[in-house]
Amino acid sequence: MPTLASSPVAVSSDQTSSAVRTNSPSVLFVDQSGQLGGAEFSLMPLAATWGAPHEVLLLSDGPFRARLESLGVPVSLVCEASVSQIRKDTVRLNWLRALPGILRQVRAIARRARAFDILFLNTQKALVLGALGKPLHRKKIVWYLHDVMSSEHFGLLQRFVVRWLVRYAVDHVVANSRASAQSLVALAHCAPDAVPVVHNGIDLGAFSGRQVSDVGALRRRLGLPEGVYLAGLFGRLAPWKGQHIALEALARLPHLHLVLVGSALFGEEAYVEALHEQAARLGVQDRVIFAGFHDDMPAWMMAMDVILHTSTEPEPFGRVIVEGMAAGRPVIASAAGGVVEIVEHARNGWLVPPGDPAALAEAIETLRGAPALASALVLEARAEVAKRFSVEVYLDRMRTLLARADDGSQTAKSR
Ligand code: UDP
Ligand code: GLC
Repeated sequence: MPTLASSPVAVSSDQTSSAVRTNSPSVLFVDQSGQLGGAEFSLMPLAATWGAPHEVLLLSDGPFRARLESLGVPVSLVCEASVSQIRKDTVRLNWLRALPGILRQVRAIARRARAFDILFLNTQKALVLGALGKPLHRKKIVWYLHDVMSSEHFGLLQRFVVRWLVRYAVDHVVANSRASAQSLVALAHCAPDAVPVVHNGIDLGAFSGRQVSDVGALRRRLGLPEGVYLAGLFGRLAPWKGQHIALEALARLPHLHLVLVGSALFGEEAYVEALHEQAARLGVQDRVIFAGFHDDMPAWMMAMDVILHTSTEPEPFGRVIVEGMAAGRPVIASAAGGVVEIVEHARNGWLVPPGDPAALAEAIETLRGAPALASALVLEARAEVAKRFSVEVYLDRMRTLLARADDGSQTAKSR
């Protein structure tokens, strides 16, 4: 069994020379979701710019399909309702009921994979269903890990299956952060340098290229209150994203208004209900806006005075943090997981302990009371995003790793 030596490494730019990129391999990308989550947003530019035959195979239908198609990406669908209903934290014996559907999806993915050089698995279910079919398709498997593989996020069975597949079926793993990589190294006991890290990248131009001179007009257009200090929290509504922590902080700051941008993507309706009840109980319902899901993130972010990230569990990466930094707004984020690979406290953002409304309220007050400090953070943040989290850097690293995976050269986990 491989040993656990040092920390997983991020691929440095000198390792990403285009010299290793000869002819791109053809790729079948597989994603379980039709919804627009961070993993799906990270797949979009990769699939849209892939320079060889490729296709995205989705295991559920939804707005993600239309987005891909609008970018000219060929998409196929292999849906099985019984499999879609299995949730990551409740993988228990209910998967037995879904067994016929699972087998159908394994076979369908394998059939499609035969036409490509590489099978790129972008989510947990895609991993399981794509890797189980390896004896049928015999293609190189690359898994882009977007999760911290902890017991807070995943059940015992799911973690066992992942460990087994990583050891015996997956050829290459790429993680979206060192935090995600380390969690897999701990789970599967693979060699740390066998799990390279490719951070997500975002389209900087879409954010910083659109400076807003009249924030009041922007707020009017978006239906947001003018003349108040406005905090924005972006992302799907889910317990571990910690919107309830932001509501608690709101209750401590009578001058503050809060906008929650995003919706429940994966069946968290009970949590949304609980958030509304909590807002009423705390008497803050007049100062919180549940804005729902929106497409124009740059505009929504630029309409804020401060951007919050409140995850109570280690965030695997956190695209919204990088986007907030690119939008030129100070970001306060939960110091855990991949976040600390992005934000350095008091240099390019502000870190607070996860799940601590008092600390969050204090941080908001600090930045509100010190506009010069907030501006200095923003300046550093923009430079950080341009240097380390641009879509160009992300695509370059990902293409290099995929070319190497096709070569058969060593980037993968050792066994
Ligand atoms: N997002 C969006 N509209 C919304 C809320 C979120 O387009 O109303 C996007 C956001 O810009 C980000 C992604 O959804 O790119 C969320 O990704 P992140 O990695 O932050 O979190 P995830 O939901 O994947 O855990
Ligand atoms: C997952 C993670 C998120 C990350 C995204 C893209 O959805 O929850 O933290 O930013 O993938 O890698």
